[in-house]
Amino acid sequence: MTDALRIDNHLDADYFERTLRSDVLNGLTAEFKELPPKWFYDDLGSELFDEITRLEEYYPTEAERSILRARAADVARLSEADTLVELGSGTADKTRVLLDAMTATGQLRRFVPFDVSEGILRSSSEQLLDEYPGLQIHGVVGDFEEHLDQIPTGGRRVTALLGGTVGNFGPRERKGLLTDIARGMQSGDMFLLGTDLVKEEGRLVAAYDDARGITAAFNKNVLRVLNRRLGGDFDLDGFEHVARFDHDDEWMDLRLRSLRDQDVHLTELDLDLHFAAGEEMRTEISAKFRRSGVEAELAAVGLDLIEWWTDERGDYALSLSRVR
Ligand code: SAH
Ligand code: TRP
Repeated sequence: MTDALRIDNHLDADYFERTLRSDVLNGLTAEFKELPPKWFYDDLGSELFDEITRLEEYYPTEAERSILRARAADVARLSEADTLVELGSGTADKTRVLLDAMTATGQLRRFVPFDVSEGILRSSSEQLLDEYPGLQIHGVVGDFEEHLDQIPTGGRRVTALLGGTVGNFGPRERKGLLTDIARGMQSGDMFLLGTDLVKEEGRLVAAYDDARGITAAFNKNVLRVLNRRLGGDFDLDGFEHVARFDHDDEWMDLRLRSLRDQDVHLTELDLDLHFAAGEEMRTEISAKFRRSGVEAELAAVGLDLIEWWTDERGDYALSLSRVR
């Protein structure tokens, strides 16, 4: 008999050393400073993100949940899956709607959460184990960019990527990510993708710049991660959170703006960084989509759109596609 809970961790100390170092060396010594988004999610960052999902202004979580409630039974039926793989599962809060629907039909055997944040993956897996007796959970702690091939195979699978996470990758990286995801699937397997949609600018900006400043704290947490892991001396009060909608690229552009002329030292990299007063570094983009774009991006990696579901307001979409 297999243990009900297994967690594989592919992120050794060497991974953080290597990847964070090269991301910082490449991203912060360039003319336009930029960091990849995965470094937000240490334990505190995961907690702050969880708080974001409960903010009045942050509509995507409830929009996605409402679509899941209406359509989870369709996902269960159309996919015929016995395994649910979730990429970037986080607290796996909304995932329960899918797990419930797949349990109700008796088809569910295994849940495979995949996340870069070990703490949140472990705590959510342990909780789910209690809530779903008989469910096998095989968690994978890894990075989308390196470890998707470590996801266990076998069974008929539906793979979910929720929360608009796909929008946090630039067009080129997104193509790479979708290619890797599709490559790991077998003919007939299904892909369930959550995408936030283009809408009025005011609501978009509010969702990424809430009145209580939780999003600002989340954004600045990346500086805390650099301080801790690389011996940095970033002064969190020396930067402010900036959230703009870029109409040309149709993405939210999240930045930290230096409030003064300042130098930052990163001991572990033996690196000095200079920030001019008003200089911005990009910490995240969050792309907003249209149906035609999503359909084309999926088709380009061999995924045929089967269903396109939105919430009542048309704010957010879930798409179900099938490997050709
Ligand atoms: N699915 C949840 C959480 C979304 S937040 C929801 O819909 O609310 C994005 C999640 O992806 C976080 O849990 C974060 O830790 C994870 N993540 C971000 N970048 C990642 C990467 N490169 N590899 C693996 N997981 C990543
Ligand atoms: N996937 C989420 C999104 O794009 C991540 C997110 C929400 C986020 N709020 C944020 C990332 C603020 C950085 C800053 O909506």
